[in-house]
Amino acid sequence: MTGSASGLESPAEDLLKVQDLLVHFPVKVPLIQRLISREKVVVHAVDGVSFSLKRGEILGLVGESGCGKTTVGRTIVRLLEPTSGRIIFEGRDISHLSQSKLRPLRRRMQIIFQDPHASLNPAMTIGRAIGHPLQIHGIVRDAEEVRQSVLDIMREVGLTPEDQLFDKYPGDLSGGQKQRAVIARAMILEPRLLVVDEGVAMLDMSVRAKVLELILNLKRRHGLTYLFITHDLATAKFLCDRIAIMYLGRVVELGPAASIYAEPKHPYTQALLQVIPTPDPDKRRKKILPRGEVPDAIHPPAGCRFHPRCQSVLPTCGWEGRDFIDLLDEHLSTSPKGVEDDELLGSIGEWWAEGFEAGRKTDAKDPKKLVERVKEILAKAPPAMAQAVQSVEAKGEFVIVQFRTPDKLVHTAVADRTVECLLYQ
Ligand SMILES: Nc1ncnc2c1ncn2[C@@H]1O[C@H](COP(=O)(O)OP(=O)(O)OP(=O)(O)O)[C@@H](O)[C@H]1O
Ligand SMILES: [Mg+2]
Repeated sequence: MTGSASGLESPAEDLLKVQDLLVHFPVKVPLIQRLISREKVVVHAVDGVSFSLKRGEILGLVGESGCGKTTVGRTIVRLLEPTSGRIIFEGRDISHLSQSKLRPLRRRMQIIFQDPHASLNPAMTIGRAIGHPLQIHGIVRDAEEVRQSVLDIMREVGLTPEDQLFDKYPGDLSGGQKQRAVIARAMILEPRLLVVDEGVAMLDMSVRAKVLELILNLKRRHGLTYLFITHDLATAKFLCDRIAIMYLGRVVELGPAASIYAEPKHPYTQALLQVIPTPDPDKRRKKILPRGEVPDAIHPPAGCRFHPRCQSVLPTCGWEGRDFIDLLDEHLSTSPKGVEDDELLGSIGEWWAEGFEAGRKTDAKDPKKLVERVKEILAKAPPAMAQAVQSVEAKGEFVIVQFRTPDKLVHTAVADRTVECLLYQ
């Protein structure tokens, strides 16, 4: 990553620094499939993520479902083991520390999850639950002292009247109160870093605003640093100093929240921001929500992972064989097929794609006809895709569509942020 906008060049202020983080999950595949293909099947949940967190700032991690936000959060606090990369917390590389060495660090980095109900033991009173970490970590043993600390933190997070709520069970509390209890339980350890994973997503709007206020107040009073994970752009805008936009395991844009909202640079950020509802009709822009679905993280697209859905895509962005299959599939299912089309193109199942190639075995006497037909279809493709085709040729009994290799993507400093997009390289 280049540029100073990410804060990567000011190590003195960094509470946390994440470098080239990779978290891959192995996928269980049937034995027979393993025997056929030696390829190791993994989910590329996080695939080369770098950012830093300055002391006292709130960094938002934003992106659609499945892009890897929770995996980043859980790995940072080492609930998950990174596949590779570095996690530097308070100047120390913790990416491969053993559980016993992590123990003393745990109290300085806490994580809060979306569902406060699931986070609280229904059989434990609120007071006991909040004080529990003090005992687990052997910080305070004296029962009266624990009780006093719990009452103090309950008051601070707005769980009042604290002496009455102390002996209540989670089931007696509202959703907002439960989330305050979860926050209190994390705060009682006086952490330096709080990872909040969709921490207000399940709360009603009015309660949500109050809990966000609380989060800001705690930050001011305790000099806390937050990684705030959300798919809700409005919440991130309200709360965060800087924002990292994630797409399929990568950070595609990272910079000050205000300028990202004012002028998003990455086409994905632009598309995401266009779907935020805005009350002002003059400001309502044309929706350009990316076409297609988010591809799966087992086989992420080549080059820029966003390229198949991108409005500004270039021929160099990573077009590959399966993009051609998608095009052909769309063509076959939408165009009124002539007999000739059927015969020449065959069914979609007869085509294969591997890397930057797509092809089909043809028994036609004149494969050149199929070559011409494929070229006609490509002529109707988005221009960037058509221009990415290096050749369409008959090779023996095969017809092969060959795409060019994509240009290498790097994070580039653009104005006050970093963007991973060929438009800016
Ligand atoms: N333990 C696991 N084993 C296998 N795959 C996993 C595991 N945990 C997450 N994944 C996969 O990793 C990818 C990233 O998931 P993750 O939960 O980090 O995304 P997210 O951005 O937090 O999504 P959401 O907004 O829905 O919470 C997804 O494809 C998910 O299915
Ligand atoms: Mg998540």
